[in-house]
Amino acid sequence: EDLGIVAVGFSGGQGKAGVDTGPTELIESGLLTQVRDELGYNLHGHTTVDQYTDLVPADDPPHRGMKNPRAVSAVTRRIADQVYEQAREGRLVLTLGGDHSIAIGTLAGSARATRERLGREIAVIWVDAHADINTPETSDSGNVHGMPVAFATGLAKGDKEEFFGWLKDEHRVSVKKLVYIGLRDVDSGEKKILRENGIKAFSMFDIDKHGIGRVMEMALAHIGNDTPIHLSFDVDALDPMWAPSTGTPVRGGLTLREGDFICESVHATGSLVAVDLVEVNPRLAADVEGAARETIRAGCSLVRGSLVYEERRVIERVHKY
Ligand code: ARG
Ligand code: MN
Ligand code: MN
Ligand code: MN
Repeated sequence: EDLGIVAVGFSGGQGKAGVDTGPTELIESGLLTQVRDELGYNLHGHTTVDQYTDLVPADDPPHRGMKNPRAVSAVTRRIADQVYEQAREGRLVLTLGGDHSIAIGTLAGSARATRERLGREIAVIWVDAHADINTPETSDSGNVHGMPVAFATGLAKGDKEEFFGWLKDEHRVSVKKLVYIGLRDVDSGEKKILRENGIKAFSMFDIDKHGIGRVMEMALAHIGNDTPIHLSFDVDALDPMWAPSTGTPVRGGLTLREGDFICESVHATGSLVAVDLVEVNPRLAADVEGAARETIRAGCSLVRGSLVYEERRVIERVHKY
């Protein structure tokens, strides 16, 4: 089986240095060699980390309240092409972040490739403590990592080329095929957007109430059978007990096992076309003994769960895409 890699050393979607070192640390801990040697994938693409330095302007003043708008727009545009080039070959694409703004690019690239290759719209499973669906106008922080879903779905309004104007219909994902899992810190403007657009969301309350098994059944039923799935996993969906080294930790999150189960369940559909793992920041929680190492271990576990070729339990499914 073939796997296209995109490794994104970028932190401009938020203010804390260090999240750009996430992919390097994940790779140095052995993630990709495990995926190749133990899970049996043929690796393609960008197995060394791209810093995108040619795309980051010296001066990048805010626009509509967005911080680093030119840099984030240019970098996500490049990522969209990188993901597209892997996906159009029919490869499952793994993107290692980087902050979650990079999903503007990953979703754009896989949506476009899936449209061209299969004539289908992708579904998105967004696993996160946060909804990341602020528009520039509703955001309090101005951090674009809180806005990727708004740009990907077109809820955030277009602008000049250098301010995400490069996003075209072919890159868009439908709010009807979007499902959230793990939410527990949603801004009031975001709640309004979720309500008004009827977006499906399973919060931590729903997971406590129904259990993760039932929640995954409901999430996958909402998407419908036989729909290509893009899984975007923010490591802060996990409880800080498992993933302390991240920029915006929120207590009361998923256990590592629940996170793994989400990834394994999505893999087992056979419909997975792309996976993002983002917001691993090894420089944070550095005062806590082993915090960064634990977060990297958790990240590796999630990625393996989404790729397990020999299932951890017996699931008789094959890959359709
Ligand atoms: N909702 C907050 C904001 O808009 C936090 C977003 C956190 N996003 C993330 N990808 N960790 O800034
Ligand atoms: Mn988050
Ligand atoms: Mn996020
Ligand atoms: Mn499989």
